[in-house]
Amino acid sequence: MRVITLMNQKGGVGKTTLTLSLAARWHLAGFSVAVIDCDPQGSSVYWKKQQVENSPLKGIKVYAVNLPSEIRACRNLEADYILLDTPGTDKPTVRAAIHVSDALIIPVQPSAIDIDASYASLEAGLDADKPIAYILNRYVQQSVLGEDTKKALKTTPATVIGKVMNQYQDFPRSIGAGETPTTMFPGQKAAQNIEAIGQAIDEWLIQCDQQKEVRITA
Ligand SMILES: Nc1ncnc2c1ncn2[C@@H]1O[C@H](COP(=O)(O)OP(=O)(O)OP(=O)(O)O)[C@@H](O)[C@H]1O
Ligand SMILES: [Mg+2]
Repeated sequence: MRVITLMNQKGGVGKTTLTLSLAARWHLAGFSVAVIDCDPQGSSVYWKKQQVENSPLKGIKVYAVNLPSEIRACRNLEADYILLDTPGTDKPTVRAAIHVSDALIIPVQPSAIDIDASYASLEAGLDADKPIAYILNRYVQQSVLGEDTKKALKTTPATVIGKVMNQYQDFPRSIGAGETPTTMFPGQKAAQNIEAIGQAIDEWLIQCDQQKEVRITA
């Protein structure tokens, strides 16, 4: 089982979009996947409600859970991947999600203000001694802002996922329909993008496991 929290106190950075896109990828690869929607806004729950009866993503379970004690109990679920989609600023909720997680992913948009706003989340993850990775979202190729943000992220103590998430309409179009680019626009750019991101995240998670083993045996 892997429990992963998608977090950033800054709103609208892509926490829900990435949560659901990764959930779909792992589900379609044959893993059992549960999404814990810790955000009272309920975007992941909304996504689930949009799904048509014969959706290929019907098997993904989505639970609305806000109480810290219930979030901490999510490891009792039987699933290969449990993804926690968190609200921006509800500290007890996010703290509980961090606590129960094996790894933390911070999506961030390409701007200095956004990077600065993400530091509180980064510090909360570091305090809990969890593996943390940034992923740059809404990246526009060859933009000065995108390149500057990449450089700035490299100066943090977190890992930076080697693939960026590009700005594609297929993300909101598919998520709004209870799907993801992988199922609604297969083979298109956003679907290729999320596959590459998923592979990079898989590699990072394996590295996290290896580092944990080293720490346990040391
Ligand atoms: N790579 C992308 N390309 C295009 N649109 C995107 C991308 N990532 C996110 N969006 C859009 O940006 C908006 C915010 O994304 P999302 O809801 O995933 O962020 P969030 O961090 O979960 O927000 P909140 O803090 O409100 O929960 C949504 O309309 C989403 O469709
Ligand atoms: Mg959200």
